[in-house]
Amino acid sequence: MRRKYSDYMNWAKTRSHARFNLATSGVGSFPLRELPIGIDDLEINGDTKYGFPPLRQALAAKCGVSPDCVVTADGASQANYLATAAILEPGDEVLIEQPAYELLVSAAQFTGATVKRFLRREENAYALDVEEIRRNITSKTRLIVITNLHNPTSVQANPAVFAKIGALAREAGARVLVDEIYVDAIYENTPTSVFHLGPEFVVTNSLTKVYGVSGLRCGWILAEPELAWAMYRLNDLFGSIPSHPGNQIAVRVLEHLDMVRDRARHVVEADRALFEAFLGEHPQVIAPRTTHGTTAFLRLAGGGAPEFVERLRAEYDTSVVPGRFFDTPDHFRVGMGVNTAMFSEGLRRMGELLREFRPA
Ligand SMILES: Cc1ncc(COP(=O)(O)O)c(C=O)c1O
Repeated sequence: MRRKYSDYMNWAKTRSHARFNLATSGVGSFPLRELPIGIDDLEINGDTKYGFPPLRQALAAKCGVSPDCVVTADGASQANYLATAAILEPGDEVLIEQPAYELLVSAAQFTGATVKRFLRREENAYALDVEEIRRNITSKTRLIVITNLHNPTSVQANPAVFAKIGALAREAGARVLVDEIYVDAIYENTPTSVFHLGPEFVVTNSLTKVYGVSGLRCGWILAEPELAWAMYRLNDLFGSIPSHPGNQIAVRVLEHLDMVRDRARHVVEADRALFEAFLGEHPQVIAPRTTHGTTAFLRLAGGGAPEFVERLRAEYDTSVVPGRFFDTPDHFRVGMGVNTAMFSEGLRRMGELLREFRPA
């Protein structure tokens, strides 16, 4: 029986909120009033059949690719689904990192493919391990799925490793799907997309997490033109013509991308400094150290993360994402970049609970 739901998404929509909400993954909202755009720049309807051409063009320019490699989608969520479903057939195998963003797993399961996992190990600082991937590839493997930056840890993959994974995939007749939704949170020397490494790479992204314009649902896929066209044709099944004003505003955001990103950068960097100080003061909290990203993945040295997360919410009105959604129940994820006062108070409350917490 194919799984036709996502427990994580349902939890995120209905149960993640708290007064001090550290269960986030993206930056705070960018206010529309700060974007140089007026009502006269917008129209309700437009001629969009397969991607709004100015948007396709603007994304192609941002990514340094030809527009026929760009598939526009309703957020990275739909981008991941279209990419996965266009590539996989029932009975194929798909190899997904673990821990992973749950929707990548659910989307792959929904295609009828067999989901297999490869580990990104805590003791290895969650690095991608080429040998671990090689060991898990079979003659049925058609897709390898990775996030970069890694959700939940924000660890950046070594670019040289991608070339090796690409070579493995080529040999196996598989593709590599890399979700790069967090990569622009590397503010200095932002890496170029792994899409440029070769035709076996398929990349998904959106303006949601790093730019704070989630409501525009501006997502995209980069794929070689034949596969890109197959994804547009697949999307015909969902009647998916995007919101025209949404696409028009997205084009304007892309024209002012640095300004939009810089607004959030200050908050992310302030939160990160607080988080580093928190880790320094609480050696019983273990997390991979990164210099970028909007999420961190924590473990308590003495164990008891599920109980800690429950109590944090019930007694301290502070939410974090339980590790069970990443198949790693002894961890939890916190998010940075929304509101520094809220983040600071959430950390303070976490510290208060840590002082008295003894795992059952
Ligand atoms: C790795 C990853 N991909 C995709 C998404 C979904 O993004 P969007 O809001 O653009 O659909 C998320 C959201 O948390 C994510 O963490």
